[in-house]
This record gives sequence, structure tokens and C-alpha cells, in this order.
Amino acid sequence: MTFTRIAGTGGYLPEKVMTNDDLAKIMDTTDEWIRERTGIKRRHVAADAETSSDMGLAAARNAMEMAGTDIADIDLIIVATTTPDKVFPSTACIIQRRLDIHNCPAFDVQAACAGFVYALDTADRYIRTGGAQTALVIGTETFSRIINWQDRTTAVLFGDGAGAVVLEAADKPGLISTHIHADGKYEELLQVPQGISSGYDVVRKERAYIQMNGNAVFRKAVATLSSMARETLSANNVDKHDIDWLVPHQANLRIIAAAAKKLDLSMDKVIVTVDEHANTSSASIPLAFDVAVRDGRIQRGDLLLFEAFGAGFTWGSVLLRY
Ligand code: COA
Repeated sequence: MTFTRIAGTGGYLPEKVMTNDDLAKIMDTTDEWIRERTGIKRRHVAADAETSSDMGLAAARNAMEMAGTDIADIDLIIVATTTPDKVFPSTACIIQRRLDIHNCPAFDVQAACAGFVYALDTADRYIRTGGAQTALVIGTETFSRIINWQDRTTAVLFGDGAGAVVLEAADKPGLISTHIHADGKYEELLQVPQGISSGYDVVRKERAYIQMNGNAVFRKAVATLSSMARETLSANNVDKHDIDWLVPHQANLRIIAAAAKKLDLSMDKVIVTVDEHANTSSASIPLAFDVAVRDGRIQRGDLLLFEAFGAGFTWGSVLLRY
């Protein structure tokens, strides 16, 4: 049988950092409010000309370097992004071109903050069924472009960045199981209401920005993260105490802490980057994962649980042996 293993990880964060105090200069908020309600201290923001493909490319190169991957071996590229460079071609095709890779399938997955877990699920199915041997899976976002900087209820929550993994076919897992879900009935709770087919309207520009019912999203995220953990553990007959590291989507420290509590995990077994990165949507899990691999907390052989939740709503988890 063929399984999928993670051969390397990579991350990229834009140079520009905005602290909570920087935000307090341009909107009615405080460092204290943001830290208390979200755990966020600062976020990285892309330079004016910096795009999702720029960041995704940098993260991909780091992951390939760690894995020792030859460009010629990549036979699948999947990019999770909600903020593509262009309407088309896909950001995956743009990154493929910039890596000078030709002919392999390359496509984007859009599942908002659960995008990376969706992309991992997809790549895992390709590899396990022989459709690919070596895949590049990237999460990259320039959320700063869809933030309304006049709206303190959303602007303080998000940041830019990219994370990536190289996946390889292996004779043992690796990825043990993936579980993805969606329920579109929650569309209005978290959205950018404007799109191409509904008519891009430059006059009503506020419709091109994130709109969110924060309280409702918060409650649903906490409930869903705990049911997701139950689903994944019971599908694999794994006891929650066997998990070495939880790598959750980084939206809010209070949501992460509630998820950890349900798993009976102390916070020192949870990878937290929301304080430094804020919510980077589909980049948040691969970025957090990369940070913890590179600082030596996550070791080969550790049992990891990824959990994500995002607009749609979409949600999903991955249980894996690193
Ligand atoms: N600075 C200062 N005050 C702010 C503020 C800010 N940035 N944003 C909101 N407030 C105010 C509100 O206006 C409200 O004031 P009021 O009581 O006078 O009306 C007060 O703070 C409380 O707002 P509320 O929305 O009830 O706060 P909260 O405790 O629910 O926290 C969020 C707000 C957004 C941090 C929280 O709901 C959340 O994290 N939701 C999930 C968001 C998320 O993760 N989305 C992405 C999912 S992938």
C-alpha cells in the first residue's frame, strides 16, 4: 500500500510587521483589547507589490530545500488560497511557472481558512492512488488586500504569509487520515460578499472586504473544533492522550485554548503562532507547523493533529505521524 509522508516544510512572512499599537494609530482600538480578546500581538503585512504567489513561492522553496527535493520530481502542485494573484490563471500555475516546472497538474483550492487541510486531503488522495509521487502543497494569503482598515472588528484579526509542505509517496503513514466537511448555510456569517460573477462593483467597495459576525463564528468554531477532534480520534481508534502536538488553525487564542481543553492537552503541547502572525487563513497551519519543526519542538515520529475551521463554513482535520 502507498501512503503519504511529509518530507519537508517551509514558511514565509512578509518583512513589514504591524503591531497592535500601530493599528491603534489608525482605528479605535487598543493593544490591550486585541490581546485579551484574541491573543494577537502583531501581524505581518505584504508589501504593496508582494503577492500570494511571491510568498507561496518562497515558502515552497524553503520546503523543497528541507526535503532535498529535486524540481524535476514535483508531479503535483496544489495551492490553497482565498486571495489569488489573478482571477486566472490559478496561483498554482503561476508558482509552477516561476519554479520552471512544466506539465504536472497545478490547481488552486478555495476553502478559506480550512484551505490547507482541504489541499492536504486532495494531495493525499492523489498520492495514495498513484496519481502523484511528490507533491507541493502550499497555503498562501494576502488577507491585507481584503481587509477594511476602517473596520476594527475584522482588521485586527488577520495577517499575510505563506506555508508549504513537500509530500512524498511512502510505504507507511505519514498522513493517517484526513476529514473534511462544509456547510454552506453559514455563508453570511463570514464572507467577502463581492465576487466576479455577482458583479465587481468599484463604487460599493465595502463589499470587497471581509464581513463577519464574530460572536457567531466564535461559538461555531469552538463547537466544531471539538467535534472534529472526536471524529478523527475515533476513526483511528486513537486516544486523545496519544497526541503529541495539536497544530490548529490560528484564528484566536481563546478558540485554540478551548480546542486544547477538549483534548485534555496542556497548552505547551499546542503550537501557537497567532500571537505573532494573527490569522493568515490557509497559510496558518503550514506556517505554524514549519515554525515548530524548525525550532525542534516537533520531531520525526510525533503524532500530530491539524484542525482547521473557516468561511463556508468549511472545516477539517488531519491526523499524521511526522
Ligand atoms: N477594539 C476595541 N473594541 C472592539 C474591537 C476592537 N478591535 N472590535 C470590537 N470591539 C468592541 C465591540 O464594538 C463591542 O463593543 P460594544 O460592547 O460597545 O458593542 C465590544 O468590543 C465587544 O465586542 P464583541 O464582538 O462582543 O467581542 P468578542 O469578545 O466576541 O470578540 C472577536 C470579538 C472578533 C475577537 C471574537 O468574536 C472572535 O474571535 N470571533 C471569531 C473570529 C474568527 O476567528 N474569525 C475567523 C474564523 S476562521
